[in-house]
Amino acid sequence: MNKTKSLQTALIHTDYTAPEGFAAFPSAIHHASTVLFKDVAAMRSGDWKEKNAYTYGLHGTPTTFTLEARLAEIEDGKHCLLAPSGLSAISMVDFALLKSGDDVLLPDNVYNPNRELGRWLARDFGISARYYDPMIGAGIAQLIQPNTKLIWTEAPGSVTMEVPDLRAICAAAHARGVVVALDNTWSAGLALRGFDLGVDIIMQALTKYQSGGSDVLMGALITRDDGLHERLSMAHMRLGLGVGADDAYLVLRGLPTMKLRFDAHDAAARKVATWLAARPEIHKMLHPAFEDCPGHEIWKRDFSGAGGLFSVLFDARFSEAQTDRFVDSLKLFKIGYSWGGANSLCVPYRIQAMRSHWKEEGTLVRFNIGLEDPDDLIADIEQALGAMV
Ligand SMILES: Cc1ncc(COP(=O)(O)O)c(C=O)c1O
Repeated sequence: MNKTKSLQTALIHTDYTAPEGFAAFPSAIHHASTVLFKDVAAMRSGDWKEKNAYTYGLHGTPTTFTLEARLAEIEDGKHCLLAPSGLSAISMVDFALLKSGDDVLLPDNVYNPNRELGRWLARDFGISARYYDPMIGAGIAQLIQPNTKLIWTEAPGSVTMEVPDLRAICAAAHARGVVVALDNTWSAGLALRGFDLGVDIIMQALTKYQSGGSDVLMGALITRDDGLHERLSMAHMRLGLGVGADDAYLVLRGLPTMKLRFDAHDAAARKVATWLAARPEIHKMLHPAFEDCPGHEIWKRDFSGAGGLFSVLFDARFSEAQTDRFVDSLKLFKIGYSWGGANSLCVPYRIQAMRSHWKEEGTLVRFNIGLEDPDDLIADIEQALGAMV
């Protein structure tokens, strides 16, 4: 990251140069499967791993290289690889770093498909996958075995919102030579500097804030370490994880406004959450900026913002049928997964089925606060609470 400009300016002023004789801000969209070489010598000397040589569409085009460079800059990293979804970026890490006989540690609140990936690795690939309390902090040292190769972290967990102590987890992991991967999607790389806390690999689901349009699926892995990047690149190549040029362009198009959107989501979410937290129907406000949220103090120490995603636990006197009715009664909030787009979303979760350890009572409902006027969203929630009883 160029330290002479703020992140907001860096998101707008890029190093992209338009073709000779043509000047415009947007990056060009290059479609290609076959890439042409000027002669056989050039073909033979082309190395797909070199980002300055184009060899085949799957290994990158000027459009995808531009996006990778920009994403690495946002996280203050050095390398970036794109994948066709956030989930495929997650699985790329596992396939790059784990082999039969190895062990991976995942937080108990991990993004559920990542949990399912762990089950698959354990069942069919001879890799042990163990789940730890996301609030374990330095205690993770006790779980690290000689065959532990990778620790996944998520900050915060994207449904139950615990904020982990990344510094403590990374210190314990590095003392034993274990790689730490962070799913940093919640803060889009804007509100949490993962590498500064010691993380080795940052994963982003670009599907959320980077695209901002609810219309793209894409993921990214960002690293500083050349050796790790090389291992990830080999998995990227072997698995054939290319992305489409038009989708890469849509993400590029979203980046200049990303921080403004993120800050607007953040302000609106805190307004809605403040109102909701005072309601008698709500037992706990699981928003990292609120004291109820496990890891709130860590959030204050490590984060500079919060974005639009939070959850609540309804008071246990409300049945699941009632909280379902609440969600069904919302008009502006739509029912659907994901976040980071302009539209507000709401999803009820059955947490017991997703966790090994979950002691809390009351139904959990997750809100993604979009870019609508927060007062309209509050009015919508108020009428849906009225319809619930
Ligand atoms: C925390 C988290 N990580 C990763 C992903 C995966 O992203 P994608 O939907 O692009 O596969 C999601 C998607 O919802 C997510 O919530």
